[in-house]
Amino acid sequence: MSISFQRDEGIFALNTQNTTYQMQIDPLGYLRHLYYGRRVSGSMEHLYRPVDFGFSPNPYPSRYTPQISLDTMPQEYTGCNAGDFRVSCLTVSGREGACGAELRYVSHEILPGKYAVEGMPSAFAGDGEAETLVVTLADEVTGLEVALYYGVYEAQDIITRAARLRNTGTGALTLERAASLCLDIPFGDWDLLHFQGRHNMERQAVRTPVTGGIQTVSSRRGASSHQHNPFVILAGRDTTEEHGDCYGLMLAYSGSHRTDIERDQSGGTRVVMGIHDEQFRWTLSPGEWFQTPEVLLTFTHQGLGQLSRSYHRFIRSNLCRSPWTNRRRPVLINNWEATYFDFDTEKIISIARQASTLGVEMLVLDDGWFGARDDENRGLGDWFVNERKLPGGLSRLIAEVNGLGMKFGLWVEPEMVNEDSDLYRAHPDWALTLPGREPTMGRNQLVLDMGRPEVVNYLCDRLSALLDTYHIDYIKWDMNRSLTDVYSRALPPERQGEAAHRYVLGVYDLLERITARFPEVLLEGCAGGGGRFDAGMLAYCPQIWCSDDTDAVERLTIQYGTSFGYPVSAMGAHVSACPNHQTGRTVSLDTRAVVAMSGTFGYELDLNLLTEEEKAAVRRQIQRFHRYGDLIRQGDYYRLSAPTQNTDYTAWQTVSEDRGEALVSVVVTHVRATSPLICLRLRGLEENALYRVREFAVFGTGNACGDLSGQEEGRVYSGGGLMYGGFVLPRLYGDCPSIQIYLERAAK
Ligand code: DGJ
Repeated sequence: MSISFQRDEGIFALNTQNTTYQMQIDPLGYLRHLYYGRRVSGSMEHLYRPVDFGFSPNPYPSRYTPQISLDTMPQEYTGCNAGDFRVSCLTVSGREGACGAELRYVSHEILPGKYAVEGMPSAFAGDGEAETLVVTLADEVTGLEVALYYGVYEAQDIITRAARLRNTGTGALTLERAASLCLDIPFGDWDLLHFQGRHNMERQAVRTPVTGGIQTVSSRRGASSHQHNPFVILAGRDTTEEHGDCYGLMLAYSGSHRTDIERDQSGGTRVVMGIHDEQFRWTLSPGEWFQTPEVLLTFTHQGLGQLSRSYHRFIRSNLCRSPWTNRRRPVLINNWEATYFDFDTEKIISIARQASTLGVEMLVLDDGWFGARDDENRGLGDWFVNERKLPGGLSRLIAEVNGLGMKFGLWVEPEMVNEDSDLYRAHPDWALTLPGREPTMGRNQLVLDMGRPEVVNYLCDRLSALLDTYHIDYIKWDMNRSLTDVYSRALPPERQGEAAHRYVLGVYDLLERITARFPEVLLEGCAGGGGRFDAGMLAYCPQIWCSDDTDAVERLTIQYGTSFGYPVSAMGAHVSACPNHQTGRTVSLDTRAVVAMSGTFGYELDLNLLTEEEKAAVRRQIQRFHRYGDLIRQGDYYRLSAPTQNTDYTAWQTVSEDRGEALVSVVVTHVRATSPLICLRLRGLEENALYRVREFAVFGTGNACGDLSGQEEGRVYSGGGLMYGGFVLPRLYGDCPSIQIYLERAAK
């Protein structure tokens, strides 16, 4: 049993292999947080020491005990307007407009298996893999009942949380904030790690001390966004990749989100995470409930690397539902950067033909195949093949591609519409626009009101028709603007505050229906690159296009930041043309492949334009990816350097679960004359085992690049020697040279 309840003390203990989470029902019925951290036995009640802080109010029954205050008590979920001035989970008001709630314990249940989150993606569990605790709290006056759900995954060191808010009263309630959780960490000095960015530069890891005041990581864009990922880590000040305490909080939600981190007057740190409360106002009629999205929590005392590896494994085994999650993905060629909108059947076939001779396994036809879509100003929404551009339609193209022995994939952007489209002309009211105002445009397109069932039904029919009619193996599901003018023509005025969240629920509904009906179609999420790279989308899409920035050097920091929460198996990454279309930089073809191989691996350029020598390199790269693909996708990932601090080189490593194989990749981003040698301390190996260098591939343009290749292959090192001493790399020359070293455990 990973969940227990000590009736006498009123303590719930949630134990995973290496962590313990405890909470306690206090004498007034509040659900107090006691502890989340390294696994311990026995009560952690001693951590709660009520002391008097002036101006911290007291619940009425404790009015003679100034030490008792919700303002200083660590809590599992907060009420509102009841004496806790820290960031709160809830804003609720009742009939008289009175805003307030005091949540007290009502009951609890311990259940086998994992609870479900209705209408939204959440983690799942196999037989015996998880247990559920449901603690129900209620506010007597409003009749608001808050059921707190805890899913405990013992072996994975993951605890999931979500809340369900139900109106058991007689009058309507209005929610203006309904967070997924509150995590109070009563003591300690913490750093906040968050992942911020912009289009073309997503998830840049930032580490900053948690100081007095409130730090907020949020998106108001209707999507999880390029700018602020819904994932944060709190790490001890001295926590490194390999040592030290850290907490992860990852929200499985793809819309506007908000995480507040507050260091309070008593030295505690509170994190409140959930749906963004701006543009959120939800009416709960009597009997109705509101479900919050789920948060995936983890803790480790073994540093940031271990935290990431827990998430990677969990996402692969308990979040991504696609049968493709743990399968080898086809090496693809995408035509976007090769042609943009300027293509016809012949051009696509010529790219496919060339690709097939090099070993590429799937052709993905990107934007521009439908309606009048010759540029980004028209056609979105008209999901019918443009036969002018593609004579013979998709049937002919797919037959040709399949005839080359390749699979076929297709791009769609279901949630959007251009004004210049048949869909918009037929249903202008299906777009989100504000009455009496000209809409704000993004990429000259509008957003469909996904909260309307008829819109979702229409899109489901269109996508299903495409998937039924054509032999499509893969779909790239794009979303190319943020939400503005959020107003639904289908909702009454008092429910307009529901439109943004209903949009997300509609997207999930559509994804749910399409993935249930076509489970074998490999789905790649995308939002102008990585603008919706989150645990919610990962439940449906085993891979997400990481960024529209395909420059290998830029990708190093993007993929580095992404790796803190998300597995390599989820990172869409391609080799594109040089000079790179986003930066103008030229990086060798092989280094581009080393970087893209740390993702799902594919190509996005016109392979016909390559020289014979380059084509031979592509062939070798694909063969190499086949050799190492399983290890890369399923192995344990180690960040060996931080490109945010070390701008000279970036190194990372993957080790198989049984520690029998390892692949080390290094890109030298700044070659210096007479440079000191790089000595890489490897990780995750078996200390006493011997490892043989099976492949030592140096990719660069300089004259001394290959100087160790012949000598290294076959050499044997001890695991301890490589981890505690390190591996000394040769000096490399040229623009962004790289190395891949494949090690295999040698027989004793
Ligand atoms: C944005 C995506 O990120 C690109 O890869 C491409 O699919 C374009 N949209 C097409 O419009």
